[in-house]
Amino acid sequence: PEEIQGLLSTHIAEYPDFPQPGVLFRDITPLLRDARALRRVIEHWASIIPEEIDVIVGTEARGFVLGAPLAYEIGAGFVPVRKAGKLPGTPRSRTYDLEYGTATVEIAEGALETGVRTLVVDDLLATGGTAAATVALARELGAEVLGASFLIELSALEGRTRLEGVPVSTVWSLEG
Ligand code: PRP
Ligand code: MG
Repeated sequence: PEEIQGLLSTHIAEYPDFPQPGVLFRDITPLLRDARALRRVIEHWASIIPEEIDVIVGTEARGFVLGAPLAYEIGAGFVPVRKAGKLPGTPRSRTYDLEYGTATVEIAEGALETGVRTLVVDDLLATGGTAAATVALARELGAEVLGASFLIELSALEGRTRLEGVPVSTVWSLEG
């Protein structure tokens, strides 16, 4: 709806050439610090998630900040996918290409029960590398990934093509 698009356009700041030349960084912190805007956006986001979800899997760091309140709002649990080296025990790992550089993400062994109905959540779908790695980790533990949902999608980067077979929903779709 227009109200949500308006809130996002005024509460997500753009920084050209960060963290690298040619990258337009989207900063969600103005949204996070505005209590009313944050609540409205999370409530709206919850309303576009179709299936019944048991657990949201969110990716460090911005997928934590948005995934946890979204999980709370829909009555789901939250499982973190973390950057490498943060989890104890013997986590499962995936390395992937990012919009800038490479990264490794991990999930704790046993964090998801077999067949648990799971939604992958992050702030941004750009090239899709982060989300594809997160989906792969959730599936490796036996979760049923019912979808992936993002606050912002940069459609020109075609991240959806890396998430084949995973229904994707986004609150705000931008060209690039
Ligand atoms: C950003 C963003 C997404 C990812 C999207 O995370 O929060 O997780 O990039 O890019 P992709 O679709 O090309 O993979 P980043 O790794 O910069 O770190 P942060 O969330 O810890 O800030
Ligand atoms: Mg991130």
